Amino acid sequence: MFDTMTVTKAGGALCGAFLIFLLGKWAAESLYHTAPPSHGGEEVAQAYTIDTGADEAEDVAAEEEPDVATMMASAEPAAGEKVFAKCKACHKIDGNNATGPHLDGVVGRAVASVEGFGYSEAMKSFGGDWTPEALFAFLGNPKGVMPGTKMAFAGLPKLEDRANLIIYLQSLGG
Ligand code: HEC
Repeated sequence: MFDTMTVTKAGGALCGAFLIFLLGKWAAESLYHTAPPSHGGEEVAQAYTIDTGADEAEDVAAEEEPDVATMMASAEPAAGEKVFAKCKACHKIDGNNATGPHLDGVVGRAVASVEGFGYSEAMKSFGGDWTPEALFAFLGNPKGVMPGTKMAFAGLPKLEDRANLIIYLQSLGG
């Protein structure tokens, strides 16, 4: 019954199974070892931390993108009228263009749409409408948001100033 051949076959089968098991283990291990770089990027990044200031930059960006609707809800047109003093040198609200285009009904107006005003190429190719959000971004940093604009104004760093001003401009209607 247990002749040599059977024992040899059985032994061979066992060895073969063990070999396949080892091969599988090796394959699995090499898979697990090579996997992290392909889809474990975060893990690799967490292994060491280099302070590139990227987190801070993200925080700043987050501050720079407030919920405009919330800001606008608590904004004061009267306070915005005072902020508008900074724009008066170049912008009128009586329908006449000056250094800058008139700002009657600018909230919701298409960008660069005042007839007869000589806009810069940057403004003409910007596209879109002056939504509160678009104004919010632009007035925070005109040349940063629209490189090449000829609006020589540094921007309004204070979020409240921008919200108040936009509410004021909106209250003027068109
Ligand atoms: C030194 C002059 C100057 C000041 C100050 C200034 N602007 Fe301007 N503004 C311009 C000029 C010039 C343009 C046209 C820019 C262009 O074509 O690139 C412009 C364009 C704009 C536009 C785009 C209008 C459109 O028809 O698309 C808005 C909105 C605007 N200004 C708002 C303001 C507000 C609000 C303030 C005050 C916080 C302000 N500007 C201060 C000169 C000025």
